[in-house]
Amino acid sequence: MPGLDLEEIAIVSYVLDDAGRRSALDPQDMVGLVVRTPEFLREGWELGLHLGSPPPPPRHLLVLGMGGSGIGGDLLRGLLYDRVGFPVTVVKDYSLPAWVGPQDVVFACSYSGNTEETLSAYEAAGRAGARRVAVTSGGQLADRARAEGVPWVRIPPGLPPRAALGYLLGPMLGALHRWGWTEGLEEEVGEAVAVLRELSARWGPEVPTADNPAKQLARALVGRLPVVYATSRLSEAAALRWKTQLNENSKVYATWNVFPELNHNETVGWALAGQPEGLLEVVVLRDPEDPPRLVRRLEITREVALGAAGLHEVWAHGHGRLSRVLSLVLFGDLVSVYLAYLNEVDPTPVAAIDELKRRLES
Ligand code: PA5
Repeated sequence: MPGLDLEEIAIVSYVLDDAGRRSALDPQDMVGLVVRTPEFLREGWELGLHLGSPPPPPRHLLVLGMGGSGIGGDLLRGLLYDRVGFPVTVVKDYSLPAWVGPQDVVFACSYSGNTEETLSAYEAAGRAGARRVAVTSGGQLADRARAEGVPWVRIPPGLPPRAALGYLLGPMLGALHRWGWTEGLEEEVGEAVAVLRELSARWGPEVPTADNPAKQLARALVGRLPVVYATSRLSEAAALRWKTQLNENSKVYATWNVFPELNHNETVGWALAGQPEGLLEVVVLRDPEDPPRLVRRLEITREVALGAAGLHEVWAHGHGRLSRVLSLVLFGDLVSVYLAYLNEVDPTPVAAIDELKRRLES
């Protein structure tokens, strides 16, 4: 482990590589759920394949969902960006855009089924006459869908929503395939499941820090403010996912941004952001398919802006878009859990979110 003295290596290895220590810090086994991402994706995909008869292709596809239930929509939007003839809009709010109407299709995603913003937007979609599909483990969303005859996908209960990513994204992919709206998804999902299985084994908790790049990156992020950059539309959602997993699992503040937009504002902010030295740690999510112009932008950005910050590149794996983006997500999910261990916090509880919801209800 470069940059660490022997005592530090011993501490890091104790926290990350000792199974007893890991289970003491992670009693609900968040890391075990992360490494099951490929299985959840496969099962979620199959649930989507059983959705009823195909509606005609929409004028517009909307995905409603907050936090851990909204990220599936962000990933879907990146995956479909330049391959379908309809726009994909992700709504993370109570209300819908004014243009939503009967020719649009809406996926309402809420793991608990009780998220007030999603329920409100779901009702608004009904009033607008849009065709709705719900994805949930139960709660009010399931009750309302059942009562109104809206098709819905029942996903397994009992998980933290952010650990259920495969169950939230998979059904939408399965439905799009079943309805014939997108080519090539079956092959992409098959490849992604295989690639993620292999990577889970390579980066999982049993692999010691000395051989595990996810544990090594977590070590580099201790005490730093992570800045996660995406290089494309595809990896944009992965960068957002990194940020939110670092927030919720590691309990740290983090930021994210995407090329080329960040070259038109944030790059200037680096003039002082590097001070004091050692505060920020940049993680760039790289894709072998990054266009040459974006690669050049990254090189120049390093030279003109990022100078003093620590910089790490994480590369996508696999061929298809789904493997590439989900391999970046998997690596980040594992880094966030390993960083939780190093911060000596339990990755699962999200006390501030629970408290906020409780107070809004009362
Ligand atoms: O990770 C979390 O717990 C949150 O981001 C939730 O996903 C978010 O609050 C929305 O809740 P739900 O996923 O149940 O709709």
